[in-house]
Amino acid sequence: MERNNRKGAPSQNQTLRESPALIRELTRAMVDEINAITQYTYGQILLQKTLPVVADLFSSIARTEMRHYHGLGGLLHDLGVSHAPNTAIRNTAYTVDTESDPQQLSVARRMLNDRIRDEKNASETYRRLAESAVTEQTRGLLTSLSGDEAGHAAALAAMEKRLAFS
Ligand SMILES: [Fe+2]
Repeated sequence: MERNNRKGAPSQNQTLRESPALIRELTRAMVDEINAITQYTYGQILLQKTLPVVADLFSSIARTEMRHYHGLGGLLHDLGVSHAPNTAIRNTAYTVDTESDPQQLSVARRMLNDRIRDEKNASETYRRLAESAVTEQTRGLLTSLSGDEAGHAAALAAMEKRLAFS
């Protein structure tokens, strides 16, 4: 009986049901989700007093991204990968001048633009990964995540449009 497995590595007689390449991508996706949670939460804090409508949208999307992180972590665990990904926070600095309305609007627009780009990329990545999945469980989760991210991109784009008319 194998007793000396490295902690977190799949046991040697356990066959992973997804390819090592897909497992690596799923781990990378978890890091992206953590970064999204950070970006949205930071945006919410920054804009909650000046543009609460944008802050509320960011807050709601951040909660969905937390569910995504949780879902990916659960999937990896089910696939026999129990190590936590090495997370490096890639924060983009945005600063808001609370005295200047036009400056706040332009920061909010920049944040919305950046998040729309990231959500579109995430949706496309999950769609591509779903195609390479072998198990129904993996394909189902990734397809659902892809749809969520596309929904986020649409909600953010609608908010951007709304700000353009304000
Ligand atoms: Fe997500």
